[in-house]
Amino acid sequence: MGGTAADIVFQSYGRCCKSDEFFVDFYDYFMSSSQAIKDRFVKTDMGQQRHLLRNGIMQLVLHARGMSDRKLRALGESHNRGGYNIPPEWYSLWLDSLMKTVRKHDPDYDAELDMCWRDVLGPGIELIRGAY
Ligand code: HEM
Repeated sequence: MGGTAADIVFQSYGRCCKSDEFFVDFYDYFMSSSQAIKDRFVKTDMGQQRHLLRNGIMQLVLHARGMSDRKLRALGESHNRGGYNIPPEWYSLWLDSLMKTVRKHDPDYDAELDMCWRDVLGPGIELIRGAY
């Protein structure tokens, strides 16, 4: 049946990942949220980046299911002020873009599922954001 919030999100992410367009749409939404964000990806190989993000979101979901912090700590390092220097305020735009994409791609999307996603990913995102 339903399972824990983390299980529900894990299954939703599985439905989203059926289409590679999920990651194309995510970056379209995310880059449309601010010119400054768009500018950060001018030199990025977006094909590769979509692939990396696919794993990154999986790490956030697995973290909620009890996996170790190690990979998220590494993302915290790469995104902090000594790395890509990603301002902490941008993470809410990141999450809003992600939820817009889930809404488009998961046929089972509803307000409750949206809340599950935000609750489940929250602590992992905080870990990365908090490493700034
Ligand atoms: C690179 C995940 C938030 C900008 C990456 C990589 C992953 C990732 C897996 C590749 C591995 C690495 O370089 O460490 C995530 C996750 C996020 C997040 C899970 C949210 C919790 C953000 C935000 C921005 C951002 C808010 C703002 C613009 C970048 C940039 C790169 C990157 C610029 C490097 C691109 C390049 O190699 O040219 N991210 N990211 N990320 N991320 Fe994020």
